[in-house]
Amino acid sequence: MKHKIVLIPGDGIGPEIVGEAKKVLDHVCQKYGHEFQYEEVLLGGASIDVHGVPLTDEAMATAKSADAVLMGSIGGDAATSPWYRLEPSKRPEAGLLRIRKGLNLFANLRPAYLYSQLKDACPLRPDIIGEGFDMLIMRELTGGLYFGERKTYEENGIRAAMDTLVYNEEEIRRIAVKGFQIARKRRNKVTSVDKANVLDSSRLWRKVVEEVAADYPDVELEHMLVDNCAMQLVRDPGQFDVILTENMFGDILSDEASMVTGSIGMLSSASLNETRFGLYEPSHGSAPDIAGQDKANPIATILSAAMMLRYSLDLDAEADAVEQAVEKVLEEGYRTGDIMSDGCTCVGTREMGDLIAKAIWGGGSH
Ligand code: IPM
Ligand code: MG
Repeated sequence: MKHKIVLIPGDGIGPEIVGEAKKVLDHVCQKYGHEFQYEEVLLGGASIDVHGVPLTDEAMATAKSADAVLMGSIGGDAATSPWYRLEPSKRPEAGLLRIRKGLNLFANLRPAYLYSQLKDACPLRPDIIGEGFDMLIMRELTGGLYFGERKTYEENGIRAAMDTLVYNEEEIRRIAVKGFQIARKRRNKVTSVDKANVLDSSRLWRKVVEEVAADYPDVELEHMLVDNCAMQLVRDPGQFDVILTENMFGDILSDEASMVTGSIGMLSSASLNETRFGLYEPSHGSAPDIAGQDKANPIATILSAAMMLRYSLDLDAEADAVEQAVEKVLEEGYRTGDIMSDGCTCVGTREMGDLIAKAIWGGGSH
């Protein structure tokens, strides 16, 4: 099958990890007889350097015309990078928010799964890890604090700043529906996370989630306050199946969830709209401190490519092959620095990509 894929290498370690994911996809294409046409577009600092803005209209149009977008990471070191001397709406992150909003990617799926091979890299005690855990954070991605009105101003000589958190029922309903649908394909449990003891937006969130839940009587629904959820994630992560939450809470909780899986370098993500189209990116940042040193863990990006095969291209067997290849390489004891433990073999970004690409050929053919 022919598919058009837009690659966004981005900044920092982005080009290295996207390069490895593409290497793995090339092997998938060879093995299964597909043809992927790639086009690269600039986003974030890389785009600022060339065009003066973090995302051009042409880049957005190119992304829109693809079957799927595979992205690395964007942004730099805010203390030293000239990108952060620009006004906030021209900085790298503004480009990412614009592409999410422009493509209507309201549903952000972030699976956090503890590989049995990585138990030693998990910072939790063995009695807490138990049989391991496997959760999916369903983060609302185009509303809330990220997109509400904001301003910095001065009142009577006193500096002030304001951000607004707005959700309407339609925005809540469509992400809740996605949450319940995916719970049905997993373990039939949704934990909806909010701050309903304080925020009006959370009280509406809770009401609408309950209305949606009525259509999914086979799925268990519980509500949890976000502060409690942050605590439960390190107290008993095994209790979670689908965590359904708004944009800002999802941003914070997904970093926490990724760390309990051993490393943020393992966490993939898919950002979806109502169609098959999606933007796939690791949940981690651009790690400018290790950029270009062959140290970054490419696995989150490779697993994001697997999600792309599954959700946008409908290639389940190929997605399984990538996920199994990752597991095989971990099983053989290969680790990048971030997930390294005693007795394992430490490899760089490129070697990890080579090993996973080679392992694609391990299983039976299609
Ligand atoms: C993420 C990132 C982004 C976010 C940043 C880079 C704007 O932290 O994808 O989690 O906050 O959504
Ligand atoms: Mg984040």
